[in-house]
Amino acid sequence: MPETIHEVRDNQRYIVGDVEDVLPTLELNADVICLDDAWARPQRADWFGVEYETHDFSSGADSDGITTTDILDLCKDSLVEGGWLIADADDWLLPRLINYLRKDWGDVAASYDGGGYRRIGGVTFQTKAGEPDKSTPGMYLSNGGYPVVFAHKGETDRRTSVSARQITRQASFDGDWGSVKPIDPYQAWLAGLLNEGEHLVVPCAGTAPAAIAAEQLFGEDIQYTCIDKEPKALEMFKKRRDEVKLTDEGELSTFE
Ligand SMILES: C[S@@+](CC[C@H](N)C(=O)[O-])C[C@H]1O[C@@H](n2cnc3c(N)ncnc32)[C@H](O)[C@@H]1O
Repeated sequence: MPETIHEVRDNQRYIVGDVEDVLPTLELNADVICLDDAWARPQRADWFGVEYETHDFSSGADSDGITTTDILDLCKDSLVEGGWLIADADDWLLPRLINYLRKDWGDVAASYDGGGYRRIGGVTFQTKAGEPDKSTPGMYLSNGGYPVVFAHKGETDRRTSVSARQITRQASFDGDWGSVKPIDPYQAWLAGLLNEGEHLVVPCAGTAPAAIAAEQLFGEDIQYTCIDKEPKALEMFKKRRDEVKLTDEGELSTFE
């Protein structure tokens, strides 16, 4: 099926297509990749109302189609040397993701030399009153947010002291899409790890909060490519981007 390419600007686009087909065309071109993969935590779809396609972490006897490790490999190929991966996770994915990155990309949390898995960060949700948000489901403690893993490809001179752990409210998007993440944590991280004129890639983009954050930070001076195989995800991205208020100068505002 031919891919649909929606151009926000010449250098900012949302591609409706499979990451398996699109990511290889970006080889050695991404400065930062923000990945919120459609990982197949067992029974995820049943429990969490996820309607889009999910996939196994790694290939096995029962799996078919692309896996999370396939996507991680494609991300590594697409990153420039020193480029960063920022990957959302959950309780199930986190240990698997870290183990894979340590083995395949390296472990700079241990060696401080070269590249690979660097740090666990996360997003903590709070209520309007500033209390820990307990609204996420869970009878054995609620989540109150989600872990985020940071890794870089090889040595990097992109450094920042921005906190890997961000506190915010749950995403306020009023559209129909699963696992919608807040925009402002991406603003904090990308302000530190991405520079004007560089290229942000958002595979499995959904409403693409990372791309919206980059646009809020850098306006037209940032290149981004979002990829999602669902045409409806593009519609949800357009709706979410439109919901972000414009400043007097016509740029996206810095807050949701
Ligand atoms: C966890 S959701 C991302 C949600 C996003 N972070 C947000 O805030 O809106 C994962 C997305 O991956 C997409 N997806 C699943 N398999 C894909 C594939 N093979 N290629 C491209 N996108 C895929 C799904 O359609 C879904 O939108």
